[in-house]
Order: sequence, then structure tokens, then C-alpha cells
Amino acid sequence: MSKSATDYSPIMNTYNRLPLSIQKGKGAYVWSDKNEAYLDFTSGIATCNLGHCPPEVQKALEKQLSNLWHTSNLYHVPKQEELASLLVEKSCFDQAFFCNSGAEANEAAIKLVRAIANKKHKKQASIVTFQQSFHGRTLATVAATGQEKIKAGFEPMLEGFIHLSYNDYQSLQTISELEPTAVMLELLQGEGGVVPTDPDWVKELSAICKENGILLVIDEVQTGMGRTGSLFLYEQYHLEPDIMTLAKGLGSGFPIGAMLAKEEVSAAFQPGMHGSTFGGNPLACTAGIETLNIISEENFLKNVAEQSKFLHSQLETLLDDFSFIKEIRGKGMLIGLEINGNAMDIVNMALEQNLLLLSAGPNVVRLLPPLTISQEEVVSFIQTFTKVLQQYREEEHG
Ligand SMILES: Cc1ncc(COP(=O)(O)O)c(C=O)c1O
Repeated sequence: MSKSATDYSPIMNTYNRLPLSIQKGKGAYVWSDKNEAYLDFTSGIATCNLGHCPPEVQKALEKQLSNLWHTSNLYHVPKQEELASLLVEKSCFDQAFFCNSGAEANEAAIKLVRAIANKKHKKQASIVTFQQSFHGRTLATVAATGQEKIKAGFEPMLEGFIHLSYNDYQSLQTISELEPTAVMLELLQGEGGVVPTDPDWVKELSAICKENGILLVIDEVQTGMGRTGSLFLYEQYHLEPDIMTLAKGLGSGFPIGAMLAKEEVSAAFQPGMHGSTFGGNPLACTAGIETLNIISEENFLKNVAEQSKFLHSQLETLLDDFSFIKEIRGKGMLIGLEINGNAMDIVNMALEQNLLLLSAGPNVVRLLPPLTISQEEVVSFIQTFTKVLQQYREEEHG
């Protein structure tokens, strides 16, 4: 394609972008380049959990901007130590490694598991992951991901991953027999269609891991940072994983990722084995500290529980009127509506009504409102969404 061609773009062709250019954001709203307001029920794909430009995070970032931007990990980074201490205090883990994205956090977890297998067990690592899972777009995380469409075209895949069926008791039998080094999973598959883990199944999975010395790695890139109603989703399942990965909501939109681990596990990493130039950069960690402090405030998660209960109850009322909605599922502010039909049709119709929605797979409409959403905003969402569903019914099912 030549630079003078009418369809030339200086941006590589890796995304199907919707026809909207966003210029500004505040709270639950964004504004287009034509200054039109849109209610944002995507939160930058579960990232802007505190809404757009949360003032406390902005203030802390502005202060850090005039102080120090970057130093590298050749020296101690006090903001990194502060964020690590906070994460450790609020979780069951002992140490943190910082990076810049969810895929990198999972890469770090995969490398740590491999280091343990090589060092402790003197063997090559094998990691069980699940069908329909999503763990990122780097080569290791593509290999870990349980979706063929993500892998296609990038073969040969990195070895060492075994994909088993999710929420399936036969898989547990296989795990006991195989005794892999680790099992890695999302407790609520986000990209794979908003599918929560069965609590009894994961309880048994965790027991098998404990009995056989298999590491339990939880990918909380999408579910972490209050998204599902608790700071981390593993708390709701009463689990004590060995490793957890975070990104997205950790920096409220400032890029940051983290891999947390129990000390006996993280001890396998020694200087020189892993690193990242930008990982744990003072600006990113400042965003993380402020975000974590806000989500940890006494009433924050109580409000999330209240508003998400209200939102779920309002959505339930739509089931009678719109029979093409097969199921509403999810937790907290990570909600999926499985429909008979194409989810992107609804996403496109919503865009025309100034409402931003997401899909998750071909037939699930995904809702990711900011955790700070107000009751009035939920009411406004339900009004617009009802109009969209009516239009969809008329056009597709009429
Ligand atoms: C569960 C999960 N893991 C990993 C990732 C990859 O994160 P990133 O896009 O920041 O690399 C995602 C992104 O959607 C995710 O949902």
C-alpha cells in the first residue's frame, strides 16, 4: 500500500476499530472529537476502574511528573517498594515483580514456574491452562491461551502447555495423573465469554494442587482491583494461590503490570534472570499506589457491591422482554449477556446511541462500567440499553 493511497494509515492493521475518536474522559463519560458525550461501559477494557481521569490519581501523577519520571531498575525505586508493600499487605502474597502489561505479568509468571521446575525439580516445566482462556498476545501467553483463533498463524507454539476443559471434573482427574508444575487460570474467563469458575470445581482443583505440590497461578489481569466486588477475585473463592498476575485496573489507565508470589516460590528468581526497563517505573507505581489506596477505602467496595447489585437486578428485568438474551452472568462489574445472535451488532447499535459496550466472543455482550458508577448513571444506561435491545429485536428478530 502506498503512502498516497486513500486507505493508507500510518498505524499497523491489527485492530478492527469502531468509528469513534475519543478526545476526553471524565468519570463514566468520554467525549468524541465532535464533542459528543458517550456513556462508557467498557472502562478501557476493565482498566479505568475509577472512571476516567480520577482526580486523586491525577494529582499524585502531576506531583510525580514534576519530581522524577524514570530511573531504571539499576537503583532502588522507592515508589516500587511502596506499591509492592501495599499489594503484599492486601493479599496472601509476599513479593511483587513489576512490568507494563497483563501479558508481561503472565510471561513473568510462566518464567518463574519454569525456573522452579528447572531448579527444584530438575525437569522441564509443564503448565496446565484451560480451553477458552485468554492470557495475552506475547508468544508465551499466546501458547498459554486456550483459543485457536489467538494462536493461528504464529506457529510453532512454545512448548510446555496442556489445555484442559474448564469447569470439568475429568480435567481434575487428568491433573492428578499428569502432575504438571503449575495450573494457570482465570477465575472468571473474561475474553472467553464471561464464564465464572465453578466454586466446587476450583476448590477440588486447589486441593489437588496442594496435595501434589502443583503451583496454582491465578490470572487476575481482568478480574483484579475491585472489578468483581472484592479487591481480588481469589478471595471470593477462599483460595490461597501461589502466584497472581495483575495489570489493567492497577494503574487506572497508566500502563503497569505485576506478578505476585509467595516467598518460597519467588525465591527461584535471582538477579539477572528477569527484568524490564520500564517495569515499576515511578510514574506507573504512583498511579498504582493511589489507585490501590482508593479501592481500599472503607466504603469503596461496599458501594461497588451496592451498585452492581442494582445493575444486575435492573438487567434481570430485561430477560422477560427480550427472549434473545439467553443468560446474564458474571460478578460485580464484569457482566456478560449471552444472546442468540451476534454481540457486535448490539455493540454497534449502542455506539449509535452514544453508549460504549464490548463483546466477549461471538455471542456475549460484555459490560464493564467503572466501579465508581452512580445509581443515576446505571438508570441512564438501562434506558439507553433498552432502546438498543428494542432496535436489535426489530432489525434482527422482527
Ligand atoms: C485475563 C487476561 N490476561 C491477560 C491479558 C493481557 O493483558 P494485556 O493486554 O495488558 O497484555 C488480558 C487482556 O485482556 C486478560 O483479560
